[in-house]
Amino acid sequence: VTAWAEWVDDQCRLVSRAGQWRTTRTFDAAGPTGTLAGVDSPVTSFASNDYLGLTQHPAVKDAASAAVERWGTGAGASRLVVGSRPDHELLEAELADWRGTEAALVFSTGFAANTGTLATLAGRGTRVCSDERNHASIIDGCRMARERGADVRVYRHGDLDHLAAQLKGIEEHGERALVVTDTVFSMDGDVAPIDGIAELCRRHDALLVLDDAHWALDEDRWSLGDVDLVRVGTLSKTLGSLGGFVAATRPLVDLLINRARPFIFTTALTPADTAAARAALAVVRAPQGAQLKAELRDRIEMLHPGHPSPILPVIVGDEQAALDAAAALLARGLLVPAIRPPTVAPGTSRLRVALSAAHSREQIATLRDALDALGLRT
Ligand SMILES: Cc1ncc(COP(=O)(O)O)c(C=O)c1O
Repeated sequence: VTAWAEWVDDQCRLVSRAGQWRTTRTFDAAGPTGTLAGVDSPVTSFASNDYLGLTQHPAVKDAASAAVERWGTGAGASRLVVGSRPDHELLEAELADWRGTEAALVFSTGFAANTGTLATLAGRGTRVCSDERNHASIIDGCRMARERGADVRVYRHGDLDHLAAQLKGIEEHGERALVVTDTVFSMDGDVAPIDGIAELCRRHDALLVLDDAHWALDEDRWSLGDVDLVRVGTLSKTLGSLGGFVAATRPLVDLLINRARPFIFTTALTPADTAAARAALAVVRAPQGAQLKAELRDRIEMLHPGHPSPILPVIVGDEQAALDAAAALLARGLLVPAIRPPTVAPGTSRLRVALSAAHSREQIATLRDALDALGLRT
């Protein structure tokens, strides 16, 4: 046994002993229902972020197939090297129009969009304020920013007073401020107090970076008018494809093209992913998109009236209790993932229910009854 093999075994044991060992499972499904490895009867999943069910939409699938026929599978190289496909630029123009910005840039994942944006914009002379429950990609982007000399501060979840205290004195220090937050938090499904955050940004000339990854319902109407704004998003959840994007001013996007390493040094989005995202965005913006959002809203209302997003946590607390609850639901044919540390804080292990317009009302009723029977509440 080599020293490296021994080290790897030790590390695996450490994870395991902490009760945090995880494995991937094969779920053979198109849409919410399918076959889970090791389970005999069909399982309905409440784990996917395919909020509007667009991974299965005929127009989206057709667009991906047509793109493969026309351009083939891989993009071949970075866009700065090999050039963009027409669809890359069309998608970016459409995303910018959707988000109401001058320009947009696609990345190969939402994760890359966040790290690329934060590492490009924040460095020496920048104070970065980040919500404590922001996604791992924002946390890693903040780490990169810190390495480049940024003063990174983490504020208590959704706490405007704490954020105000962190922004205080920024002008005297001659620093620029950047505030970054998930719009909808990925493990809690709550919405950030965007209007209050925008007001603080305005007061301190801070740049507001919003990560809209889980913002599926488009229900919120914030007053963001005159705040310096960057909107990060993903093509991988509501848009049913793969990739991320940044929507902002033209100069800021041009800066990302020139400085964001996860854009420069990685292969461009595949033609199929790009075309699928274009088709999905067209559906979202058409009357059918409003219909799908209304169906998603209806499913949410069945489980938790008034909840602001399709992510519904069932906080259990203890890690084993969360695993037991997930196992009890699976025994009833319902796949609801247990989320444990390090993804969430110790003592807040939970089930994460993700709803989709693709779920039938019957499937939601089955889940609701099962949660009731187990004494669990979203
Ligand atoms: C809030 C948030 N931002 C960014 C990402 C990353 O997006 P992607 O899956 O496209 O890499 C995720 C998803 O995992 C997320 O939850």
